[in-house]
Amino acid sequence: MTTQLLDASNPADIAQAASLLRAGELVAIPTETVYGLAANALDEAAVAKIFAAKGRPQDNPLIVHIADAEQACTLVKAWPFTAQRLAEAFWPGPLTFILPRGEHVPGIVSARLRSLALRVPAHPAAQALLRAAGIPLAAPSANHSGSPSPTLASHALYDLNGKIAAILDGGPCVVGVESTVLDLTRGTPLLLRPGGISVERIEAVLGQAIEISPAIARATEDDTPAPSPGMKYRHYAPRAELTLVHGPLEEFIELAQREQPDGLLVFDADIIPEGWPVLRYGDSPEQQAKQLFARLREIDELGWQTALVRCPAREGLGLAVYNRLLRAASFREVS
Ligand code: TXA
Ligand code: MG
Repeated sequence: MTTQLLDASNPADIAQAASLLRAGELVAIPTETVYGLAANALDEAAVAKIFAAKGRPQDNPLIVHIADAEQACTLVKAWPFTAQRLAEAFWPGPLTFILPRGEHVPGIVSARLRSLALRVPAHPAAQALLRAAGIPLAAPSANHSGSPSPTLASHALYDLNGKIAAILDGGPCVVGVESTVLDLTRGTPLLLRPGGISVERIEAVLGQAIEISPAIARATEDDTPAPSPGMKYRHYAPRAELTLVHGPLEEFIELAQREQPDGLLVFDADIIPEGWPVLRYGDSPEQQAKQLFARLREIDELGWQTALVRCPAREGLGLAVYNRLLRAASFREVS
């Protein structure tokens, strides 16, 4: 199959992407978080193609993207007051709700779970496409399963060229890490994946503390069911072996001198002795979120086998950056 390259700033290309999706084809689409690999969520055969194209494990459920909260309500059995409040505060935007799945939504979308993940993306091209297509779109990140998520159309092309009908190029993703996943099927909301909307912002809107899944900060045993199945896989990982290093810069440099890794992934402000191959991923959590996945891909392009990574702060958006790095490093961290 030849993968068509479409331009999100061209209305004819949005219409073309919409008609491919309505015909049951796969299209990689821009969102504000990362590129998504979209298919008609109500077409079981189309959704099955997503798992095949990504090499995605069958037990890892997908997020369904809709144009607005009104459309979200049509896909679930219940729309709690908490969902309404959070939707008013954060949709369109990088927050995904887990709610009881409506009967007419094919089970394959949520890997047979009785729940469904839903979000309204904020990228103008995603909005235009959802309205043009008029169908809900199931879309995981548009990378090959396990590799870093795509924040540029070229990343999606690299992973999926020849396997999908089209890629809609909407430029670089402004957030750069995936949406926050929040389970709203229980009494107290439960954070399953930190992402583009911080815990602090959610708690401020709800006026109450939410629960945080312990799976966020540690490996999940393969034989215990993960609360969010996506958390149990090695994820976001370059081929290189990464080690996440906590603590001050001086100790980071001492460790580098002892361990002699092929390269260092550091903050913009870090002053590194000459001679070290270095990549930088920003200073603020916002910059780090935006640049992390592109840097992980560059590590492989540079052919590094090993790298030490400066550990980000774990508050706000930094929690999502830390969570992705921890998985990219297969939970290797040192302090
Ligand atoms: O920002 C994002 O969320 C991007 C863009 C494309 O919207 N999508 C994305 O999808 O990151 P994906 O498939 O890479 O991650 C979906 C996550 C996985 O961790 C999955 O296990 C979890 O959401 N998830 C989906 N449905 C679920 C459900 N019913 N219950 C629990 N977790 C669910
Ligand atoms: Mg993903």
